[in-house]
Amino acid sequence: MKTIRILVFFVLTAGIVGIAALGFGAYNPAADEQHSRIVYWLLQTLRERGVEVRTDKSAIPDLGNAETLRIGAGNYNAMCVGCHLKPGQTDSELHRGLYPQPPSLVAIGDHVAPERAFWIIKHGIKASGMPAWGKSMDDRSIWGLVAFLRTLPRLSPEDYHEAVERSGGHTHGAPGAAAHSQHHHESTEHGHDGHDSGIPEHQHNDNQPSHAGQLPLTATPAENNSSSAAHSHADETPATAPTAVEGNTHTHRP
Ligand code: HEC
Repeated sequence: MKTIRILVFFVLTAGIVGIAALGFGAYNPAADEQHSRIVYWLLQTLRERGVEVRTDKSAIPDLGNAETLRIGAGNYNAMCVGCHLKPGQTDSELHRGLYPQPPSLVAIGDHVAPERAFWIIKHGIKASGMPAWGKSMDDRSIWGLVAFLRTLPRLSPEDYHEAVERSGGHTHGAPGAAAHSQHHHESTEHGHDGHDSGIPEHQHNDNQPSHAGQLPLTATPAENNSSSAAHSHADETPATAPTAVEGNTHTHRP
């Protein structure tokens, strides 16, 4: 009886000290410092078991379908490269700075089980930087990405470039939308070269609200360059500056 009381006392004290420590900000949330072993283990178990029990193998379509694969390439290039890299690329600012670090899908794309890849792409992973693409993309386009990931590690930079060119850019249907209401984003691989932000500059051809409308299109390049938002790599000065936004430069030292 006495042992149980001592045990309860210790558990309660540890709980109170733990909660007080959290309240005082003892746990560092910075992305440039690794989790403690116990927190890492907890989060990893949450993610792995949580994903495992939710995946559905029976829903996998024909991933060898040429059209599915074709669509996947353009969407991957427009939406995933900034974090998950492309053939010939080993690093990017987002890839380096995020914690957990996004895996290089060029290295492991063919090792991720299709049902797992589909679930993670559709629903994202909380507090990790991996977005829930299912909020803006239909299932068919997500399977296109899954199909493309399986081929990615075998592609040379040239093969990759060709696959993106053939794919017609960034094209996907909205969730629940019929095939004919697909919207097409104008951006192509060229549109994303020169920066690895992973944040594509979209132009919608339909009546959807345009992302471009949120950008200061009326500003002149000179105005932009004088603002603190100027962000350009000195070695990546664009040859032409067709719009104020594209003319904006991305400059910083590591
Ligand atoms: C802003 C960065 C970011 C973007 C953009 C992004 N991801 Fe991710 N992704 C992550 C991170 C971070 C993880 C790791 C999450 C974790 O381990 O908890 C991840 C994990 C994944 C995984 C799981 C790999 C595995 O088995 O462990 C897949 C598959 C994936 N992403 C596919 C994609 C695809 C496809 C796209 C584009 C449609 C995309 N991601 C866009 C950050 C990103």
